[in-house]
Amino acid sequence: MGHLRTREWHFQMRQWVILLPLALLIALISCGKDQTPATEPKTSATDPVPIDGTLPADVGTDRSTSDPARNKEPASSDAVEPGSADSDRIPESSLLSDADFQRRAKLGHLVAKRRCVLCHKVDGRGGILQPPLIQVSVRRLERMKTISEHLAQLQTDDPDRYQARADLFNSIEAEPDELRKMSIWLHGYLEQPTFDNAQAKMPLPVLKPEEIDQLASYVIQLAVDGVKQGVSTPE
Ligand code: HEC
Repeated sequence: MGHLRTREWHFQMRQWVILLPLALLIALISCGKDQTPATEPKTSATDPVPIDGTLPADVGTDRSTSDPARNKEPASSDAVEPGSADSDRIPESSLLSDADFQRRAKLGHLVAKRRCVLCHKVDGRGGILQPPLIQVSVRRLERMKTISEHLAQLQTDDPDRYQARADLFNSIEAEPDELRKMSIWLHGYLEQPTFDNAQAKMPLPVLKPEEIDQLASYVIQLAVDGVKQGVSTPE
């Protein structure tokens, strides 16, 4: 038994004799790689720069902790809580029974089938790179509930952008009807998607004013239909 143990021990030692220098060599090579850029500028007496520069590259945990956080941040700041109970409620509005609104929405449907399908599905047809138009419409209706908070934020964070459309923002605030509020918002958005948000990513074809009127009505109609159908919103 003792003999066997010593043989085992010898075998393990031999493994280590081979593995340890190998591990050291690998460690040295990888350290050397990271340190070369750090040592060079050190001679130039600007220590903080190379030290800061090497840290994120060296510390693996830094990458793994920051990445998911970075992925979550935009989602959570955009979050609209699609599951919230009152999102199933369709806002009271005289707009839906308005004959002009209905006529515009019908025309807007035709415009959308030509102008929006590059990126959004309309009637189940079109681009898949962006969420279907009905989904972004429902989500926008939900986002209208917090528009005052958003605009107050915009006014402090991006005063120039706020000032440029202050009149439009004031009329959004002054409008009590939720769907009419959304109509005013959509007019601003379809004219210039970044009007209330520098991060808005929608590249839009230039639309005529009457097309904007019609599309705004159609998007509102879609949002209402979507809420009725229980359409899920993109995150
Ligand atoms: C070139 C691609 C592209 C085209 C064409 C396009 N969109 Fe979009 N749209 C986007 C992107 C990108 C977003 C942002 C997606 C997101 O936020 O999830 C977006 C978002 C939206 C939103 C939600 C905006 C918000 O903040 O609530 C609406 C409403 C919308 N689009 C309407 C339209 C309409 C109407 C048309 C046709 C006139 C159209 N889009 C054409 C790319 C496009």
